[in-house]
Amino acid sequence: QAGLLYFGTATDTPYERERAAYAQAYPQYDAIFADPAEFGQTTPTNGQKWLFTQPSPTVFNFTEGDVVADLAAATGKLLRCHALVWHSQLAPWVEATNWTAAALREAVERHVRTVVGYYRGRCRSWDVVNEALDEDGSYRASVFYRVLGDEYIRLAFRAAAEADPAARLYYNDYGIERPASNKTAGARRLVRMLREAGVRIDGVGLQAHLHADSHPTAAELIETARGFGELVREVAFTELDVRIELPVNETNLAWQKEAYQDVVTACVKVEQCVGITVWDFYDPFSWIPATFPGQGAPLLWFDNFTKHPAYDGMVQTF
Ligand code: XIL
Repeated sequence: QAGLLYFGTATDTPYERERAAYAQAYPQYDAIFADPAEFGQTTPTNGQKWLFTQPSPTVFNFTEGDVVADLAAATGKLLRCHALVWHSQLAPWVEATNWTAAALREAVERHVRTVVGYYRGRCRSWDVVNEALDEDGSYRASVFYRVLGDEYIRLAFRAAAEADPAARLYYNDYGIERPASNKTAGARRLVRMLREAGVRIDGVGLQAHLHADSHPTAAELIETARGFGELVREVAFTELDVRIELPVNETNLAWQKEAYQDVVTACVKVEQCVGITVWDFYDPFSWIPATFPGQGAPLLWFDNFTKHPAYDGMVQTF
């Protein structure tokens, strides 16, 4: 296996609604994003999700996804594509339809085939199925699971493999960073289920939305990544951020630095780990403060564009 290939960042379609207040930050943001010394890979935070790519049964729309795919090409970055079958940010019509198994099968196949086919040759990897598991490791009762059971997972991976034979196909989830958790065990079962069915899966993505005050140790991350590495050829940290219980202070910034460093240590040590992606790099553009009130400053650049201690910490650890 190739070993570490990239350090990257997710980015969103620029100038979208909620960021209008930061219009003046974009020149600096864009320069850091583009700098090949900072990032060699990117992922669209939102633009390739079902909500955007197939907002109604008869409409496919790649406008949002193309912004980041084109930016990746223009700035010479590897592209991780995200995410095909997910219960969240799903187009409302998928939830609202009273599906027969046959009709949903056809809809999932069509979605995956069309989106992966459209981006064929441009995605180094695809998150084919995202967050299919509950905390206890059992399957999440999404519309897909309720109608099709775990067959939807096999269907999605098969359709993706046909539509872009060269893209590396991933199962991606959060809360699977620690080796002993029930959810990590569930992810291992999911991967084995695909392998036993003869369905290709190339990688497992550990989202790694971590907490500064209770993060996994490097040893834990290594054990988890190695465990997945025995089942698939690649492992990646796909959505890394380390949220702080606000306010920010020296102590929690030091914990945060440790968390980021532990991820680097693990990825460097585990042969199958191909890369690390942070879930954006500039704090004001993080999803954390809006989603988890009271928590924030999870990325590598503060609002005023000074760097978190974690930045130098990671540089030293690589
Ligand atoms: C988040 C985005 O960052 C937000 O902008 C959006 O509002 C919600 O989704 N797991 C995933 C990502 O796989 O797609 C999510 O991204 C964060 C959690």
